[in-house]
Amino acid sequence: MDVISVIRAKRDRARLTDEQIDWVVDAYTRGEVADEQMSALAMAILLNGMDRAEIARWTAAMIASGERMDFSGLARPTADKHSTGGVGDKITLPLAPLVAACGAAVPQLSGRGLGHTGGTLDKLESIPGWRASLSNTEMLDVLRDAGAVICAAGDGLAPADRKLYALRDVTGTVESIPLIASSIMSKKIAEGTGSLVLDVKVGSGAFMKTLEDARELAATMVGLGTDHGVRTVALLTDMSVPLGLTAGNALEVRESVEVLAGGGPADVVELTLALARDMLAAAGLPDADPEKALADGSAMDVWRRMIRAQGGDPDAPLPAARETLVVPAPATGVLTALDAYAVGVAAWRLGAGRARKEDAVQLGAGVELHAKPGATVREGAPLLTLHTDTPERFPYAQEALAGAITVSPQGTPFTPRPIVLDRIA
Ligand code: URA
Repeated sequence: MDVISVIRAKRDRARLTDEQIDWVVDAYTRGEVADEQMSALAMAILLNGMDRAEIARWTAAMIASGERMDFSGLARPTADKHSTGGVGDKITLPLAPLVAACGAAVPQLSGRGLGHTGGTLDKLESIPGWRASLSNTEMLDVLRDAGAVICAAGDGLAPADRKLYALRDVTGTVESIPLIASSIMSKKIAEGTGSLVLDVKVGSGAFMKTLEDARELAATMVGLGTDHGVRTVALLTDMSVPLGLTAGNALEVRESVEVLAGGGPADVVELTLALARDMLAAAGLPDADPEKALADGSAMDVWRRMIRAQGGDPDAPLPAARETLVVPAPATGVLTALDAYAVGVAAWRLGAGRARKEDAVQLGAGVELHAKPGATVREGAPLLTLHTDTPERFPYAQEALAGAITVSPQGTPFTPRPIVLDRIA
């Protein structure tokens, strides 16, 4: 087998054979196929696509590149959720302990942020002492003890995806439905969860900007999960506006703890409960009551146990940025738009995200919202607060926000977009 003929085949819109796919994924993982060759193939896939059978084989080859975990020895059914990434998307933080409090085991392997979207591990690292890297044995111990664990995927899990994702990130080949679907599902299937709920984000702050693309991605992933024996459901959810009232690591942890304490912004609570219900149903626990588990403090108890089990202190004060700057409302009227992508870029420029994988994030940096679309705002009153340790970044964040805020005359009718736009099972 030679790599140039595989690249040429996809360049010329041919179907890749099973043998070609198995060989190229394995040879790339072993270093026999060079990065520049895989970049060319990834670009050919982005431009010319893959059919269902090719995507399934590509996913299977990525799973086979590493180890598979096994949670079948646990007394509880396993349930996991994966979000395709958004702005202010802190849902994993309240959701994992909530679903565990309702009787499922939640092995949540999470990632770091890159670009304008935040990463769950970066958020949790703002809790003093908390550790993202666990061995497989430690992960199982936390899962047995607390019912939920949120940690980094080990090096042994789908190493082909680890290498390919890093390459796609720097070669403009992230936004390909076959490559996104196989990347996400290879990790989730290798992780060994029995059921999976996908939160496929749609809108300016998401990879998928249109409902049509999001539906295709969701259907592809649901098909891959089902074919591998994982009960998989996808919710298509709105990402045209940031989720909740915060974007940034420690700011989002604070908001998540508010949700676990029975408060928090309505959209975060609504989406957390919608995902929890689907996770519990997929795990075979349809009668569990996640609303009660939020209200009676049992989800908060699991959160505290889970954070402690990973070395964190749930009572320690969270880091705060050294400097803040208030962005006032530009006019009096109805706030009709607050663009998710712009807020994500602003938070990123303030230091909440990284430009290169090896950069450190500022734990206290980010954007706090004082109003969401639909609210009446008064000219000059605080609309956003920007947080950073490095105030020289304020002008760049303000630049990102130019055009992101629309205030319409008072009385302008406003129909909020529903959070959950569709469901694919
Ligand atoms: N998340 C992943 O894990 N992979 C992708 O390709 C995109 C988002």
